Amino acid sequence: MRAYDIILKKRNGHELTEEEINFFIKGIMDGSIPDYQASALLMAIYFRGLSKKETAQLTMSMVNSGDVLDLSSIDGIKVDKHSTGGVGDKISLIVIPLVASAGVPVAKISGRGLGHTGGTIDKLESISGFSTDLSKETFFNNVNTYKMAIAGQTANLTPADKKLYALRDVTATVDSIPLIASSIMSKKIASGADCIVLDVKVGSGAFMKNMDEAIQLAETMVKIGKALNKKTIAIVSDMDQPLGHEVGNANEVKEAIDVLKGNGSEDETCVALTIASYMTVLGGAFDTFDKAYTYLEKVICSGEAIDNFKKLISIQGGDPKVVDNPHMLPQAKNHIEIKSDMDGYINSINAENIGVAAMLLGAGRRRKNDPIDHAAGITLVKKVGQQVKKGDTICILHTNMNNWNDAYHTAKNSFKIGDYQVKQTNYIHKIIQ
Ligand code: URA
Repeated sequence: MRAYDIILKKRNGHELTEEEINFFIKGIMDGSIPDYQASALLMAIYFRGLSKKETAQLTMSMVNSGDVLDLSSIDGIKVDKHSTGGVGDKISLIVIPLVASAGVPVAKISGRGLGHTGGTIDKLESISGFSTDLSKETFFNNVNTYKMAIAGQTANLTPADKKLYALRDVTATVDSIPLIASSIMSKKIASGADCIVLDVKVGSGAFMKNMDEAIQLAETMVKIGKALNKKTIAIVSDMDQPLGHEVGNANEVKEAIDVLKGNGSEDETCVALTIASYMTVLGGAFDTFDKAYTYLEKVICSGEAIDNFKKLISIQGGDPKVVDNPHMLPQAKNHIEIKSDMDGYINSINAENIGVAAMLLGAGRRRKNDPIDHAAGITLVKKVGQQVKKGDTICILHTNMNNWNDAYHTAKNSFKIGDYQVKQTNYIHKIIQ
C-alpha cells in the first residue's frame, strides 16, 4: 500500500477502505508518512468529504492510536458531555453535580481553553486546591462512590488527532465537517463513556457560524456515535451572544454556583437543565426528557445540586467554602466599566470578540502553553434585547493588567446598539438523536 495511491483515490472522490485509513493513521504516527502527504490527504478530504462509513473508521483509527479508558469497573451507565466550544460556556460545571444527583455516573474528561473559547479545567482551577490531575484509581473511585469526577485529558489520548489537528491548523483544513466530527468523537470514545450528549454551539462565538453547518456537524457526530455503539444525542444551542453574564474563569465559577443555587440566568439554566436531562435519560434514570427536567429543577430548588457541587470540590481537593463565600475566588485589581454612548436597545453582542477581549485581559491563551489569570474576565451587564440609556454600564472588564486599552475597544465594539428592540433568540435550536 502507498500513501500516494490513497491520496489519489480520495482526490478523485472515491471511498477509502478501513485498511487504507488505518495504514494512513499508522503511517503519520510512526513517521513513515511525511507531513506533506498527510496534508495532501487532508486537503483531498476537505474537498471530497468522507462517507459515513469512512468517518466512523477514521474516528476508530484515531481512538486506537492511543490509550482508551476502560470504565467497565465503574457501576452503571456512564455518561459524558462535550461542547464544541463557546464563550461563557460553564455548562459542564453545572451538569456534573446535577446529573450525579440523579444517580447517573459522570466520568468527565475535559480540556483547557484556547483562543476565544474557555476550558472547564481552567475554570475549576480558580478554586483554591481543586485538582483535575487525578490518578486513574482516584478517578474511578470517585465516580463509583460519588457518581462524579472530572480530570484533564492524558497526553496519550488520541495522539493521531493531536497530530492531524496541528496539520489542519496550518493547512486551512480545520473547517471540514467530517474532520471536526471524527476529531471530537475520537476523544469522546477514547474517554470510555457509554453515552454522550453533544452541545453543538452555533453563532458568532462558535466554530459553526451558521445553522445548516451546525446541524450537519451534529448529525454527523450522532451517526458516528451510533455506528460505534455509543448512545449519542446532540443539541444545537445558541452562541450568538455569550452564555450567561460572566466570561472568564473565577467569575464563571461564581455564575455556575448561582445557577446551582437556583439564581442563574434564564439562558444558562435552560441549556444546563436540557443537557443534564438528556444525560440522565441516556444514563437510564428517567424514561422521558420531561420527567428528568422536572426532577432536576427540584434538585436545584431543594439545595441538593449546590451541596453536590460542594462535594465535587472537596473530593477533588478544593475548598468548598468558596460556594458560600465566592469572594474567596481570585479577584482582579482593576474593574473597568464600559458605558453606552447612546440610548437604545442591545441588538447584538459578538461573542467571539468578547472571548478575544477576555483573552486580552489575561483570562485566555493565545498559544497552548500560555499562563492564564483566573481573576480576569468580563461581566456582561446588558444582554441582547435589553434597553440602555446613554451612560449606562454595558459591561465590566476585570483584569490585573495595567494596559487594557485593546480589550476595552474590542469589548466595546462587540456591542451593537440600535433604536429598535430585537427578539431574544431561542437558547436551544434543535435536538438530534
Ligand atoms: N474541536 C475538536 O476537538 N476538533 C476539531 O476538529 C474542532 C474542534
